[in-house]
Formats: sequence, C-alpha cells, structure tokens
Amino acid sequence: MRRFSAEYLEHTRRGMWDDGRDALADLRLPSRERVLDVGCGTGELTRVLAAEASGGESGSDASVVGVDADRDLLAVAREESDDRIGYLAGDATRLPVADGAVDLAVCQALLINLPDPTAAVRELGRVSSDLVAAVEPDNADVRVASTVVAEERLEREAREAYVDGVGTDVALGDRVREAFEAAGVTDLRTRRYVHEKRTEPPYDEPALRSAARKASGAGLADHRAELVAATSEAAYDDLRGRWREMGREVVDAIDAGEYERVEYVPFDVTVGRVRDASERR
Ligand SMILES: C[S@@+](CC[C@H](N)C(=O)[O-])C[C@H]1O[C@@H](n2cnc3c(N)ncnc32)[C@H](O)[C@@H]1O
Repeated sequence: MRRFSAEYLEHTRRGMWDDGRDALADLRLPSRERVLDVGCGTGELTRVLAAEASGGESGSDASVVGVDADRDLLAVAREESDDRIGYLAGDATRLPVADGAVDLAVCQALLINLPDPTAAVRELGRVSSDLVAAVEPDNADVRVASTVVAEERLEREAREAYVDGVGTDVALGDRVREAFEAAGVTDLRTRRYVHEKRTEPPYDEPALRSAARKASGAGLADHRAELVAATSEAAYDDLRGRWREMGREVVDAIDAGEYERVEYVPFDVTVGRVRDASERR
C-alpha cells in the first residue's frame, strides 16, 4: 500500500474545499443520514462532509465515519476532528461495514493509489444503499505558474516522469466513470473542482519549508523510485541537480519578497447510484 505522511496531506490539501463546494452538489450532503469516507487519511474531506451534512433536510446531523488502512493517519484525523466524526481502521477493498449500511460512500484521492480501482468502487457500492462518489485528481493536467521560470519547466518534466513511473493511474480524473460503470454504478454525473494553491508574500511557514525542500532536493527524492522507473538513475541525478538549482532560485526570490507561484490541481467529482438501491430501500 502506498503510504502518505500527515504533513504531506496537510500541505497538499491546504485550502481545499474552502470554496467551490458546489462541485460536491451531486453528493446531496444535506439529505444524507450516514456517510462513509474511505481512505480518509487525516480527515481533510471527512470534516468537509460532516460540515455540509450537518443540520440538513432531516434537521439532525448525519453520522460521518472515516476509514483508512493507516492507523498513524487515523490518529491525526481523530486529533483534528470533533467527536461528531468516527474513525475506523480498515481496507478499502474489504470494508469493515455491513451491506447497505450508509447512504453515501465516498473517497478522495484513493482510487488513483490502488492497482484495481474497480474492486474498490464495487466495495463502496456494496456498503452504500444509495450514492457512491469519488473525488479523484488528474495529475497529468496539473499546471504551475511561477515567477521562477525554471520551476514551471522542471515541475512539468518531473510530473510527466512520475505519472509514467508510478504504477497506478494517478491521472484517473473523470475516467473513474469506467470503474463506476464496471462496478454497476449508474446515473453518473461528474463535476470538476480545481484546487488552486497560491504562494505569495507574506510567506507562511509551509511555503518556507517547501522552498527549503526544493533547494535540498528532498521533495523530489520522495519520488525517486517512480522517477528512476520512468527514466534512469543518470536521468534522475541530472534532474535532481537542475531541481536543486531551481530551488535555490526560489529561496533567493523569497528572500527578496518577489516569489509567487500558483498550482492548479484538477479534481473530478463523480457521483452515481448503486443499481439495486430501490430494492434495498
Ligand atoms: C492520497 S491519500 C488521500 C487521503 C484523503 N482522502 C485526502 O484526500 O486527504 C490516500 C489515502 O488512502 C489510504 N489508502 C491507500 N490504500 C488503502 C487501502 N487499500 N485501504 C484503505 N486505505 C487506503 C492511504 O492510507 C491514504 O490515507
């Protein structure tokens, strides 16, 4: 299983869903009674689901539960959440939840990390009596605009190699519909949400840390295995040298108060209905 640090998730999700929540409209959160967030990590989406599903049409709060296979991330999720949200350890392909136990089973950035996304969608469909949803990024369609010109070029080069070398479909985006159809989920709808991550003065602590990681090459080294798989040891070393040089330019630009960067990460929100929902109700 691919593992993630709490720091990575907090960094990449910062500001996500602060706006643009209309992309979640097809999840019909105000009318949900029991929601399951699978592969919830530190609970970044789980807390959004709980906020949107609270005091809805039924007038009472929905029950919201997050499931993840990584107990370290679940410990952080529990610390960050209030006691309206429950967390459970479990595998996305064998959920510790009864058939039809929830009326919405959802995941965010889970399927891109699994070798068989259809098997996981089938499992979401098994535990839901009504809706199934996936919020999956298209990492091939990420764009970066930066005042450090080399950053745009190098990030594209590294991203293309990563997408080739990673071994699962991290550019899944709205092609997740194929997995939904194969799993027997119908009435599909997809809306796109673009998460914009801005770095500009005054720089906060995460921005300074991210610049330091560029200059040391640490951020790139996290993906060394995938980059080498897509290219070669020599090509990776060459990229890392150019990457660190770019990182030093970023640090200098920050020192001068002249650095600005925007990253646009597209997430496709796909929602469908389990085929035999009416029979189960
Ligand atoms: C990219 S993170 C996304 C976390 C969270 N949904 C979010 O968007 O912030 C992927 C998550 O899926 C979890 N995961 C990966 N494979 C899993 C599996 N087979 N069963 C349960 N969780 C899994 C990881 O532990 C991680 O928390």
